[in-house]
Amino acid sequence: MSPREGGRKKVLVTAGPTRERIDPVRYLTNDSSGKMGFAIAEAAVAAGHEVTLISGPVELETPKGVKRVNVESAREMLAAVRGAFPECDTLFMAAAVCDFRPARRLRGKWRKKDVGQERASLELISNPDILGSIARRKGDRLVVGFALETADGLRRAREKLERKRMDYVVLNGPSALNAAKTSVKILGRDGSQRELVNRTKRAVAKTLVGLRAPSVD
Ligand code: CTP
Repeated sequence: MSPREGGRKKVLVTAGPTRERIDPVRYLTNDSSGKMGFAIAEAAVAAGHEVTLISGPVELETPKGVKRVNVESAREMLAAVRGAFPECDTLFMAAAVCDFRPARRLRGKWRKKDVGQERASLELISNPDILGSIARRKGDRLVVGFALETADGLRRAREKLERKRMDYVVLNGPSALNAAKTSVKILGRDGSQRELVNRTKRAVAKTLVGLRAPSVD
């Protein structure tokens, strides 16, 4: 019996921040703790699925039964997701991917005397949009993305849902970062919307793992 015929699915989850190197000892990153993605991986195993977790640098233990792949930068994450996506049935893109990286990675330490004593600037270039490029060939896979918004959340999240061809987008605010509890809105491609208020990430994860493909198209 194939995974799609039975209840057991191949679930791919990304989690945590990416880290974009400036030099051997410095980098750009963000406040993501990885907790949401790890909670999804744990909930998916508990639901009987086969789970691969692609994680940026985080201080979390791998949930039992999960295959974990560690990556650092957005480009490494893209390569790992590209490798695993064709085999999966469901993708949860919970990683907080850095949108930009330093245009140059210095081999030696960035020294004040080389860049200026009082002011310095760092040139940044765009990272690949992992979800945006992957979901183009999603077929009948279920793709769930996240949107962390500080203002005009519903409109921006819906715009991302369309642009990145997600089936669902999970909208949350900056207070979700590194927090134990979170409030989210889950928006579906079918126009559906449900809200979970002040729930543990474990509870949110369980709901997300139970999502079914929206019936549109
Ligand atoms: N994402 C991704 N690759 C990126 C940036 C984001 O795959 N380079 C994914 C995230 O994992 C998330 C979704 O896209 O599931 C939305 O992320 P967000 O950072 O909100 O979207 P951006 O396209 O970066 O939009 P913004 O202009 O708000 O930064």
